[in-house]
Amino acid sequence: MSETSEPKRIVVTGGAGFIGSNFVHWVVDNRPEVHVVVLDKLTYAGNLENLAGIPEDRMTFIHGDICDEGLLDEVVPGVDAIVHFAAESHNDNSIADPEPFVRTNVHGTFRLLEACRRHGVRFHHVSTDEVYGDLALDDPARFTEETPYCPSSPYSSTKAASDMLVRAWFRTYGVKATISNCSNNYGPRQHVEKFIPRQITNVLIGSRPKLYGDGLNVRDWIHTEDHSSAVWAILTKGRLGETYLIGADGEKNNIDVLHAILESMDKGADDFDWVRDRPGHDRRYAIDSSKLRSELGWSPKHTDFAEGLKATIDWYRDNPQWWQGAKEAVEAKYAKQGQ
Ligand code: NAD
Ligand code: TYD
Repeated sequence: MSETSEPKRIVVTGGAGFIGSNFVHWVVDNRPEVHVVVLDKLTYAGNLENLAGIPEDRMTFIHGDICDEGLLDEVVPGVDAIVHFAAESHNDNSIADPEPFVRTNVHGTFRLLEACRRHGVRFHHVSTDEVYGDLALDDPARFTEETPYCPSSPYSSTKAASDMLVRAWFRTYGVKATISNCSNNYGPRQHVEKFIPRQITNVLIGSRPKLYGDGLNVRDWIHTEDHSSAVWAILTKGRLGETYLIGADGEKNNIDVLHAILESMDKGADDFDWVRDRPGHDRRYAIDSSKLRSELGWSPKHTDFAEGLKATIDWYRDNPQWWQGAKEAVEAKYAKQGQ
């Protein structure tokens, strides 16, 4: 596959998770000629219901581990590209137990790169802006592709390590690879352990939302559908060996996001609890996505955060069966950590 051609058969790792499944739906809805092979281990974060409604002739589901070399030798030959979303993705979990993060995020990415090398397959690596560490609240700077790596948490350090492997496999072995580093995603089907779904579902079950530290930490929010369209643009038009930052100019501090949730759900501005801060908590993330916009002509569609947040709240209100099963265990885990 050349840098600019459209793939016909792609493997999506982690396609049963939050962002991976949104990407699979995006491809099925927008690229009728593409067949998607989802490879997913179905960890606590993977859910086959996320892929409900996708016609059988558009998608093949394979239940398996990206660390399984033999399985990759069955799955990878004959596909045009791998889009790699599979990961252990939650910072708080990485602080409590980092080992699965090293295994899946580092070793799993290594296994996929080796499979791409053996079978001559194009690779797109989905990563995070958290590899750059954090910025001060009063710093006018935003992250760019040139910002030095400085990860803070076990999660972000394993993502940084996986990015380095991709760069080395491109340069040393010529694996046809690109990398994207995206800011915080929101939207339907995000696990209830994450900030926005945790607060929405707390209100829905009659519990109080929980805010870490002083609530002033800033995240740069992007709707997951915009992340999907950006990944497709990079996969099909991106220059090999390049990194592209994905962001939608959505900087907001946590207390403002929480107030927006409380207001939309008819709660008072003080109807939440302050809880213990996350150790090593990154202060601020902010993305300059000029390279992606100017070089590949990408722009986000969901530019009204309040509207996207309301639709997300409606989704959790309308789909309690999707999240109720996981909620109790997640809250029990947080309670043990004083969060
Ligand atoms: P998620 O935790 O919701 O989903 C991860 C998926 O990967 C699950 O379906 C899980 O079953 C699968 N998986 C985990 N280990 C596996 C393994 N060893 N083999 C096969 N499948 C495995 O994660 P997410 O929030 O959708 O994030 C997806 C990707 O996007 C990750 O690489 C993450 O680092 C990156 N990212 C996330 C955000 C965000 O805001 N959530 C932002 C930027 C980048
Ligand atoms: P999170 O969704 O875990 O994403 P990330 O750590 O990748 O940014 O958290 C987003 C922000 O919300 C982060 O600053 C931590 C904070 N947070 C809370 O204040 N309360 C919570 O219950 C959670 C889960 C996160």
